[in-house]
Amino acid sequence: MTRATLLENGLVIDGTGADGWLGDVLLADGLIAAIGQNLRNQLPASIGPDDITVVDCTGLAITPGFIDVHTHDDAIVLRHPDMLPKVSQGITTVIAGNCGISLLPLVVEKPEPPLNLLGNDSFQFDTVEGYETALAEARPAVNVAVLIGHTTLRFACMGDLSRAASADELDAMCALLAQCMQGGAAGMSSGLFYEPAFAAPAEEVVRLAKVVARYGGVYSTHLRDEMASIIEALHEAGETAFSAGVPLIVSHHKCAGTANWGRTLETLPVIEAMARRQPVAMDVYPYVAGSTVLREDLVDGVIDVLVSWSTPHPEMTGRTLVSIAAEWGIDQKAACRRLQPGGACYFQMHEDDVKRVIAHPLSMIGSDGLPHDQHPHPRLWGAFPRVLARYWREQKLFSLETAVYKMTGLSARNFRLHQRGQLQVGWHADVVVLDPARVRDVASYENPIALSVGIEKVFVNGALAYVGDGLITARAGRLLKRHAPQP
Ligand code: ZN
Ligand code: CU
Repeated sequence: MTRATLLENGLVIDGTGADGWLGDVLLADGLIAAIGQNLRNQLPASIGPDDITVVDCTGLAITPGFIDVHTHDDAIVLRHPDMLPKVSQGITTVIAGNCGISLLPLVVEKPEPPLNLLGNDSFQFDTVEGYETALAEARPAVNVAVLIGHTTLRFACMGDLSRAASADELDAMCALLAQCMQGGAAGMSSGLFYEPAFAAPAEEVVRLAKVVARYGGVYSTHLRDEMASIIEALHEAGETAFSAGVPLIVSHHKCAGTANWGRTLETLPVIEAMARRQPVAMDVYPYVAGSTVLREDLVDGVIDVLVSWSTPHPEMTGRTLVSIAAEWGIDQKAACRRLQPGGACYFQMHEDDVKRVIAHPLSMIGSDGLPHDQHPHPRLWGAFPRVLARYWREQKLFSLETAVYKMTGLSARNFRLHQRGQLQVGWHADVVVLDPARVRDVASYENPIALSVGIEKVFVNGALAYVGDGLITARAGRLLKRHAPQP
């Protein structure tokens, strides 16, 4: 007996950017079994009338499951495998391990910043295989692909992180990375912006990226600088990837700080020029605020800062730094120091820059959601529906098909995910049914934990994972291993 679902009479958007058309999609045995019109009358003999669930998709769109290419979900998929913030947005696959910060391969009792973006619990996995076993036991609602973080490798192989890795340390990092690539990691990420990686020279990253190249993986980077020196940082990333021979993904592309507003007019042409000689892409989230750990250097007294968590002062979460500083009778930098360790949303971007990056043909959508924050940035619960509601339906930056492409087909291609990201017969049945007229984010800076509207049904590996009223039904996600020839 074959268990099957027939999605009938919806606007079929295949994830390639091609125009949608009215038709049906048949899911069976975890795969997309057929796409066409009037499939009800052409069911394969193996599917009996009692084995099939028919879903009327009149007025709705049928799209590939969304791929959240920028996440820090490494640990949360194990601790809260229902993954409600993600699956409720239509996300069926998350790419974990971004910004140089990955849960593996590292065993440590108490993670130091910025590793604590993944929560304050211990790190327990020194191999991809160990993580895969834990994932299989947890049964997350979404698929997971992992990047190996350069910063994590440094913590694993070095003592003093305020300098470049020595020759021996770098050999050890390369060996550990090779083992993880062998185990199926999708590639490597770096976060040269963060202190434990900042001292690493480009050559250190090139050596590691060459290991990634041998296995056919990708390299994503949180640039060394997203403010005054962003052009230099972009060139460094481009050279690193080019000389190692790996595809480059620029993480959460932005021009941060009021002095840099408008500078995507400079950065995007640099990225385009790079793309003429090497594979380059970027990810972006649809908000003018960024979010990371509390850092004094990001507090300039001009931009608004909203506290998302604080270990010494949990009572201050959800409040602005300016109001906390006023209450304490100190300046904002001093208040920032007193709240650490903690996290915040920084209103550091200009809307025009955000729009320019989202509309750019090389950009794909990644939430960069921080699932361990007490009062998280709303991107954790709302990023994907917000792109559809605000940037497709309201502002018409692009067609619905292009918006979907930026969340599916383009993302799968850039991260080399095998047979996902498009509606194609024989491919994995990660599928979303959504209401184009109603879909929208509800999460806000004030109330960041809220289900989106208009995501009607989400299928992961053919199983109904989510229905639009907040209900998780099946947890059918798995580890997606890099599908590329071994060296
Ligand atoms: Zn980052
Ligand atoms: Cu990130």
